[in-house]
Amino acid sequence: MSKLITRSVQTHALPLLDRFLAVRRQTEALAEPLSLEDQTVQSMPDASPTKWHLAHTTWFFETFLLKPQLSDYRPFDPSYEYLFNSYYEAVGPRHPRPQRGIITRPGVDEVLAYRRHVTEAMVPLIAQSNATDLIELGLHHEQQHQELILMDIKHALSLNPLLSAYAPEPMPATTGAPISWLDFEGGLVEMGHAGESFAFDNEGPRHRIWVDPFALASRLVTCGEYEAFIADGGYRRPGFWLSAGWDCVQQRDWDAPLYWHEDGIFTLGGLRPRRAEEPVCHVSFYEAAAYAKWAGKRLPREAEWEIAAADVALDGNLLEDGLRHPAPADGEGLAQMIGDVWEWTASPYVAYPGFREPAGAIGEYNGKFMANQMVLRGGCAATPRDHIRTTYRNFFPPDARWMFGGIRLAEDLR
Ligand SMILES: [Fe+2]
Repeated sequence: MSKLITRSVQTHALPLLDRFLAVRRQTEALAEPLSLEDQTVQSMPDASPTKWHLAHTTWFFETFLLKPQLSDYRPFDPSYEYLFNSYYEAVGPRHPRPQRGIITRPGVDEVLAYRRHVTEAMVPLIAQSNATDLIELGLHHEQQHQELILMDIKHALSLNPLLSAYAPEPMPATTGAPISWLDFEGGLVEMGHAGESFAFDNEGPRHRIWVDPFALASRLVTCGEYEAFIADGGYRRPGFWLSAGWDCVQQRDWDAPLYWHEDGIFTLGGLRPRRAEEPVCHVSFYEAAAYAKWAGKRLPREAEWEIAAADVALDGNLLEDGLRHPAPADGEGLAQMIGDVWEWTASPYVAYPGFREPAGAIGEYNGKFMANQMVLRGGCAATPRDHIRTTYRNFFPPDARWMFGGIRLAEDLR
């Protein structure tokens, strides 16, 4: 009897162990094109050094799994609890976020040794533990940081006058598609995650919501379309802008999306000519809302986006495709819902009805950020493929531009 139980636990654990090792490897592979200096720099308070991401994702497994679950676990270095805690008040004090770039020691080699120490300690724990939900959370947490590694190093490289590439950017296979409009009835619908598969706490509970009839654009707004907004005085005419957005335009001298250079665009492949048919990317919520107003449309609400996405395949231009930049649309029907760019919605990031934070420090993961941010949907070209879901709620402050954020238009049907 005990043998049977052991075998069933091991069989169940095997896919999770494989997945754990693959996710850990993928994070390290993302750092490989970077020099040690690249991995140490911090370009702004919101962006973290690559080395910090490598360490912090490891800290997560050490703090929430190894220390509580393995009585004989020996921490790699007790000072790392302070250095690599991101925002968990319940865990204890931490190094200030804007000063992560000053942590030249430990060096990258020591951080990689820390990763090996924790990965090796996790292997037997994964085989024995029934804390699979927490292990899954640790993996999805690490995948979030994989995207952050690319977002953050892109920002750092963009500020270096050499404008050098993270890695060569392949040419996309797609060349663009005309825009069309898809109608949705709405009504009393359900949204949010349900069931046994993994989701973050903020994706549930599943609940009912009333949605009036609406239409959704078949594809994302392109650079060519956004250029027309700029040419029409988009950044000079306050009538298109929310008040706080217009303040940003003036105070920060915004006159184009982040990473635009005259006719060029800086990508993780370096500086190259901009293509009219590629999706506009690295715009703030304020810019997305201003563009929509100029176009006589609006941004989708997250419930609209989610019910429209209910039948789309969980596939698109994602991290594993290696473009690391949104690609032009292709084909007919609802396109680019998954991958390419995170789509700004008109919905504030707030709790769903019935939401309860989990007990303990892990309850700080999502819930405490539910103010002053907007929801984005659908993943981007830097999002790992098995990390995205149609119920996934990403969130950023409305003035943030360094994530791969773009625009899909919606309109009311009446
Ligand atoms: Fe984190």
